[in-house]
Amino acid sequence: MIIIRCEDYDEMSCTAAEYYVELLQKKPNSVLGLATGSTPLGLYEKLVEAYEDGVIDFSQARSFNLDEYYPIEKNHPQSYHSYMYENFLGKVNFQESQIPNGEAADPENECIEFDKAINLAGGIDLLLLGIGTNGHIGFNEPSISYTLATHLTELAESTIEANSRFFADGELQPRAALTMGFGNIFASKSILMLISGASKRPIVQRLLDDKIHTDVPASLLSLHPDFTIIIDREALGD
Ligand code: GLP
Repeated sequence: MIIIRCEDYDEMSCTAAEYYVELLQKKPNSVLGLATGSTPLGLYEKLVEAYEDGVIDFSQARSFNLDEYYPIEKNHPQSYHSYMYENFLGKVNFQESQIPNGEAADPENECIEFDKAINLAGGIDLLLLGIGTNGHIGFNEPSISYTLATHLTELAESTIEANSRFFADGELQPRAALTMGFGNIFASKSILMLISGASKRPIVQRLLDDKIHTDVPASLLSLHPDFTIIIDREALGD
């Protein structure tokens, strides 16, 4: 595990963007695993700028998103589909992008087809991750057992609560999601996790204490041979 400490959110986002510029220069047909949440927004902004300035090109690259609420309409303002097209995919030029389909009538089959598409693309070169305040990655919530493939899962109460800030009062908030599993995550050649802000401090302490905690899904990532964390001072609390 490599930890890159940054002064603030902006430096974290710039450092992460450099990663992508380098990777796409080396391998223009990279397969990128993408994440949602507030943390990667700065990175997406920098990548859109780099694209508009001609510094980066995604025309040979493919992307697969980590997760999506279930059920949710694609064009719901809080779907990860809407988030991705508004903040990134709609502003750059990926050859192909896939996001688990929150409208799928048969979610199990959707997950099988999604994993097939990842394999067909040759697997994920660089998987971007954030971390939930309870240590979840994608929507792999703390559990005594973890699912390997993309799957339908129930969200933890703490996650529903943490994400309620995005939904209007009284609006029906999804209590389940489709998410890549640990098999997909570990099969990714490199993993890049972004962590920012004081709300992540307690979970960061458990993530970085050199132990694997079965109730902190992200701590399992320290077993991955190419796992990098870019973290800002507020999240580190130093
Ligand atoms: C969501 C997503 C995760 C994300 C996490 C943290 O629940 N499924 O992929 O990493 O929340 O989000 P934020 O970056 O807003 O803290």
